[in-house]
Amino acid sequence: MAVEYLRISLTDRCNLNCVYCTPLEKNGYLKHDDLLRHEEITRAAAAFVRAGVKKIRLTGGEPLLRKNVTELVRLVKAVPGLEELALTTNGLLLGGLAEELRAAGLDRVNVSVDTLNDETFKKITGASGYAKVWQGIEKALAAGFKKVKLNTVIMRGINDGEIADFARLTLAFPLDVRFIELYSTNTRSYKLSNTLFTTAETKKRITETLGPLAEVPADRGDGPARLYLLRGAKGKIGFISGRSDYFCGSCDRVRLDCTGKVYPCLFSPATHDLRGLLRAGAPDEALDDYIKKIFLVKSNYKKDSPTAGHIEMSSIGG
Ligand code: GTP
Ligand code: 5AD
Repeated sequence: MAVEYLRISLTDRCNLNCVYCTPLEKNGYLKHDDLLRHEEITRAAAAFVRAGVKKIRLTGGEPLLRKNVTELVRLVKAVPGLEELALTTNGLLLGGLAEELRAAGLDRVNVSVDTLNDETFKKITGASGYAKVWQGIEKALAAGFKKVKLNTVIMRGINDGEIADFARLTLAFPLDVRFIELYSTNTRSYKLSNTLFTTAETKKRITETLGPLAEVPADRGDGPARLYLLRGAKGKIGFISGRSDYFCGSCDRVRLDCTGKVYPCLFSPATHDLRGLLRAGAPDEALDDYIKKIFLVKSNYKKDSPTAGHIEMSSIGG
């Protein structure tokens, strides 16, 4: 599979502390000097695009905490040859930024939100803020993004009672809703292993309550999600089944973290580091050669499993 999709984590910081994620487990945050600067991120992005990447997604931590994120969006969007720029956010700061991000050229937004209820929101994220997230989603819908998707990790006994409510959103709004199986990749999410709610169970809940789901073919770039539509719906329902499905064969992505490290697989350790070359002012040709090596490693990379190592979603951005 050619590598066409780059995920760039902009920061290891987050303004939430979700039960399956990590910010408060870590020994402090990275120092400012460790982070790639805007120009370095843009140069790296341009080199990946020269090597064949067509789509870039900005992630975190929470990417909207990055200072002047709108300016960074403008810089990356201007990379010649890039076809699509997207971002995944927890939505807390989206209300205030949606319009300017769209104007700066951001094409698509995915919002991670696991509940539609403020009490449960507090339990899952440690903070009160559901209303702000929903406001962010509304602003994103109004700002004219090519697509807005919600990402919902379903956990038994925590939010599985809301599956039909999430699915119903696709009837009311032009939103795609994707249900994600929980990965146990770190100390916190291991403790939640028994809350795994499989795609088969989620689908059953939806069809029992809202009727049949018609399968729709994935667009190019829809990644591991399998997509369906409820009758009369404005948006699709997707399932990302990292635990019960196997999609390594169609993986077309690499990940760059906020310090310049590159990961060939979500569950692998970093195999390369671009920061040294970027800081040494290496010419484009040197960056291009290095990225060829990264893609070679990626193309021969054996599948890693979620349990292969200790993965901090908060640094690698999912
Ligand atoms: P689209 O471009 O809209 O399809 O988004 P995306 O699914 O690529 O990105 P997003 O940040 O919305 O991630 C959604 C979920 O998919 C997260 O839970 C990710 O951890 C999971 N995911 C993304 N890429 C991979 C992957 O390569 N392997 C596995 N196992 N899970 C992935
Ligand atoms: N399992 C499944 N999905 C996860 N995400 C973060 N941690 C996990 C996990 N342990 C998801 C977030 C977000 C996306 C980027 O990754 O909910 O939607």
